[in-house]
Amino acid sequence: MNIKNPIIALDFSTKAEVFKFLEPFDERLFVKVGMELYFQEGPTIVNELKNRGYDVFLDLKLHDIPNTVKSAMRGLASLGADLVNVHAAGGIQMMESALEGLEAGTPAGQQRPLIIGVTQLTSTSEQQMKEEQQINLSLQNSVLHYAALCKQSGLDGVVCSVLEAADIKNQCGDDFLRVTPGIRLHEGLGHDQIRIATPRIAKVEGSSLIVVGRAITQSANPVEAYKQVKQQWEAK
Ligand code: C5P
Repeated sequence: MNIKNPIIALDFSTKAEVFKFLEPFDERLFVKVGMELYFQEGPTIVNELKNRGYDVFLDLKLHDIPNTVKSAMRGLASLGADLVNVHAAGGIQMMESALEGLEAGTPAGQQRPLIIGVTQLTSTSEQQMKEEQQINLSLQNSVLHYAALCKQSGLDGVVCSVLEAADIKNQCGDDFLRVTPGIRLHEGLGHDQIRIATPRIAKVEGSSLIVVGRAITQSANPVEAYKQVKQQWEAK
């Protein structure tokens, strides 16, 4: 897996749209398959992307009882994705079971996919978290708490916003991945995302990997938009 490239969120509903979108790119890409695409096209979309040489983050955000998540992860491990995830809110036992399932399902001789925990979604505001989830912490502290649970469970990192990346790096160490969605090329258009930042700020704040969807996929020129994201992300 090329661990450094910006991850492009393939938020399309059909395979045809995905491959049409990918066609003009002439480099190796790290892409994300989320619920929209997976639920329409099924597991074969992961195999097809892997066979064509893409690195794949399978973003299904599992959250269920430990036994169910373990069995689901055992199945997902065989698809060849490089990175998978669960919701940290499922708890330590669920996350440990997810890891066990992944290990059990990884074919002999292959590396098990990395697994990260979603802390608070980047579309969640502190007010919404307090009112709807009834969590009486700052959003920053809730994310840090979830990150600690992920680490304790043996996960490889978290999904968080850029705003929490530096604190998580301090708390959990640089090897513990901080994968950050909510990336926009310019501060401004957030769509439904609340905790957003540019690729440049993500780099400065210590993101390990950035996930970029609409800033690239809905751009008039996706290849150019990707180039700009990459330039900002790789700038010293
Ligand atoms: O279009 P945009 O760049 O906002 O897309 C972000 C992508 O990252 C979406 O596919 C979304 O599902 C995903 N994601 C997120 N926040 C998380 C985890 C995943 O936005 N905490």
